[in-house]
Amino acid sequence: MRMIRVFDGTSAALNSIQRRSECWVTTSPAFLPEAPAVAPLRNDNALKLGVFAMNCKGGTTLTKVESGRIVPTWPQQLAIARAADAAGWEFLLPLARWRGIGGDTDPNSAQFEVFSWAAGITAATERIQVLATAHVPLFEPLVAAKQAATIDHIGHGRFGLNVVSGWNAPEMAMFGKANPPHDERYRIAEEWITLIERLWTENDQFDFDGEFFQAKNAYLAPRPVQQPRPVIVQAGSSPTGMDFAARHADFGFQVHPDLGKLRDMNTNLRKRAEQQGREIGVLTVGTVVCADTEAEAKRYFEHCVDELGDFAAAQNLIDELIGGDNRSWPREQFRAMARGMIAGWGGLQLVGTPEQIVDRLVEVKRSGADGVALSWVDYESGIAQFNEQVLPLLVEAGLRQS
Ligand SMILES: Cc1cc2nc3c(=O)[nH]c(=O)nc-3n(C[C@H](O)[C@H](O)[C@H](O)COP(=O)(O)O)c2cc1C
Repeated sequence: MRMIRVFDGTSAALNSIQRRSECWVTTSPAFLPEAPAVAPLRNDNALKLGVFAMNCKGGTTLTKVESGRIVPTWPQQLAIARAADAAGWEFLLPLARWRGIGGDTDPNSAQFEVFSWAAGITAATERIQVLATAHVPLFEPLVAAKQAATIDHIGHGRFGLNVVSGWNAPEMAMFGKANPPHDERYRIAEEWITLIERLWTENDQFDFDGEFFQAKNAYLAPRPVQQPRPVIVQAGSSPTGMDFAARHADFGFQVHPDLGKLRDMNTNLRKRAEQQGREIGVLTVGTVVCADTEAEAKRYFEHCVDELGDFAAAQNLIDELIGGDNRSWPREQFRAMARGMIAGWGGLQLVGTPEQIVDRLVEVKRSGADGVALSWVDYESGIAQFNEQVLPLLVEAGLRQS
């Protein structure tokens, strides 16, 4: 394969987010840590790399393959996180789940809770950004704001908050809650994040009198290390979800296995942010199956998905997504997605030789994505192979500086 340098490794949009952060004026030194930090997600790499869903049984792949799967155990979590950290990856994104998907293998039925997971992983790593995902209906804003600030201190400015408004009815039922109507979820989320942002940034105590949340004499100390606030991520693809991301998030996740469709979604999100007078980074997700030959990679992918895929779990997941009024894709698309759900929650399928995977990632960057959160059937061997064989080629292609 001919390697050409296609990107110079800088991102105007993200640098400008960082510059805006540096201009923020804070007047309460007592509440501030010594030095603001530049979050890894705001670095200059043209294509950020993350690990997705490593904290849940089976990760993102719904298959009966047993070897090397996520259990999860803590030593396994540490090994994966440290492999990414040592190689300079930008972020770790867990899945906030409370119950499994059922079917033959009950994927995701064991999970580490994401804030405590993020605290432990942050303490065990040196430079990678560690995200936690908060379900708006399940976390009091002040609790989430303080957990985030605490983890940001543990890692000296490496925390990121992924805000999800809830969709999974069986999970919400475990808390005795029902999902509000789709768009109301985002009205609740709007107040929730507004209160959190105020807690992170305001110097004086304040009262908050919203429709869904109230607070009296609220304040937060110590403030987060990242100023003005930790990185905020959001993953809704419905128009309402995108608008929420456009108003509040530094990065929005958009997910589709088809690069043309992904490009449209990425463009749509950026336009919505522009309309708000903001810039937003875009991230996506993908599953990697890498081998020395294309035939070998395809054979293993088909083995995991077509031969040993947990189609019953995929059907459950699709039913739950539709039942929970998840509007990331049209309903017909969800229904046709069993294979994509098995391969990795409907994300990109990066299957081939190291060179072919880099070629696809060049296309992913061209689709407007600033980064990709990856998963594997076997995370530990997958990330080791990626670091050894794919990462150097990404540098050669100009997608990363290291
Ligand atoms: C990358 C990514 C990660 C997500 N992580 C979680 C999660 O951990 N827990 C969860 O309940 N929903 C998660 N979601 C679901 C979304 O946050 C969102 O609620 C869902 O896509 C429906 O929103 P929409 O109808 O606005 O598109 C995730 C979605 C994506 C794309």
